[in-house]
Amino acid sequence: MNSREALIQALDLTHQRIESLVSELSDEQRAVPYHSGINPPVWELGHSAFFYEFFLLMALDGVSSFDPSMDEVWDSFELDHADRWSPSLFPPYLATLDYVRHVQRQVMTRLFEKPLTSNDHYLYRYAICHQNMHIESMIWARQTLALPTPPAPPEEPNLSHTDTGDTANAVGDTDIRGGYFLIGLPGDSSEFARRDFGFDCEQPGFRAVISDFSISRTLVTCGDFLAFVEDGGYDRPEFWSQGGRGWLRNAQKRPIAAEWHAQQARYIHQQGDIPADAPPRHPQYWRKRASRDGWEVRHFDQWLPLEPSHPVLHIAYWEAEAWCAWAGRRLPTELEWEAAALDNRPGQDFQLLPWERTGVSDGSPEDFASLADMDARALGRLPATALPAGASPSGCLQMIGTCWEWTSSQFLPYDGFRMDMYPYMSTLQFGTHKTTRGGSCATSSLLIRGTYRQAYLPDRFDVFTGFRSCALNPSRQT
Ligand SMILES: [Fe+2]
Repeated sequence: MNSREALIQALDLTHQRIESLVSELSDEQRAVPYHSGINPPVWELGHSAFFYEFFLLMALDGVSSFDPSMDEVWDSFELDHADRWSPSLFPPYLATLDYVRHVQRQVMTRLFEKPLTSNDHYLYRYAICHQNMHIESMIWARQTLALPTPPAPPEEPNLSHTDTGDTANAVGDTDIRGGYFLIGLPGDSSEFARRDFGFDCEQPGFRAVISDFSISRTLVTCGDFLAFVEDGGYDRPEFWSQGGRGWLRNAQKRPIAAEWHAQQARYIHQQGDIPADAPPRHPQYWRKRASRDGWEVRHFDQWLPLEPSHPVLHIAYWEAEAWCAWAGRRLPTELEWEAAALDNRPGQDFQLLPWERTGVSDGSPEDFASLADMDARALGRLPATALPAGASPSGCLQMIGTCWEWTSSQFLPYDGFRMDMYPYMSTLQFGTHKTTRGGSCATSSLLIRGTYRQAYLPDRFDVFTGFRSCALNPSRQT
């Protein structure tokens, strides 16, 4: 989104995408039950339109909103989460669609007609990114509620037949030589609206000294995780931290799981003899069918056979941490993750995506189809060794896309942090959340870069989370 043309294209695609994600649901499906991890899709539609109104049309042009009486309803900081389910507060779906299309036309007209200052460019981009964040949350809501799989964008090729990679050479660890690395983005760049666009938590960038480490080239797979499950990993407290043991005790009582269990009981009583509030003994979206061989994984509204070569998804931080303890491994820190993904060392060309220096892409959005599983194209249903063209300089695969990767790092501000114009993008999560990296299969590719930091509470499994691991002791570096 470095030019007016790119902004126009991104705005148009984003609008089409969010509208289709809502319009293809039936009225019954749009009336989603309450769940603390999601929002009603029609509210997300109106809310993301209000964001354009508030930060662009109202802030820059001083105009009043489409319907000032609705401003507080669409504003996420004025309306309690539970009230987003109150039908009496909202216009009907079709009236909301009229509002959203009105805002879209206003923004598009402005984008065509007014001079594109750096500040305006930044705000357009910010609002488009924000709407894409809601596209991702609408997709994970479908997974949470076992609604149908969202279709891939129509112009995208089907990734299920793409190169699955050189399996033999893709597995195992890669050794990263320690030294100085550049982490994050400049906090005071004149390119803040274009090349150096980022959110407040990614800034200001800094130099970090990172020691030698060895990190797995691939994400942990369903097969890797199944070995832990079948070794009784969930019943062995020695692999679980204090926080993990608490999560195991209470996982099914926490709102995310309890609400899902209550609403989707038909999915939970998989063996007929496991009470819904029993501690988990495997990932929440897995089941072992007594009547059939093997395990199944719930993918939206379908139960599919567990594919051992696919990355394991929908894993809570505590489960990732326990798997590492069982395997004699550890999670990477977020600085190690960024170093493995980008290898930005002083004196080199600074890259925002793992493949920029290889020249496989000129940065155009179409290239993402062969480089990363994003934009709901494959939705995690590719082997962990697939997409070799998107490898990082160190040979790590799928660092961008597939799943938000848990790191061991607490989500904290970088030294010199300055809150940007949307005050709650990061500040509400500092200190309580874990940092995940890389974007997921449900993330829009226009949103992602290697410096991006996404915060999730460590008990979240409903979002598209997975992980890779590091050796406890790095191999000797040469
Ligand atoms: Fe929002």
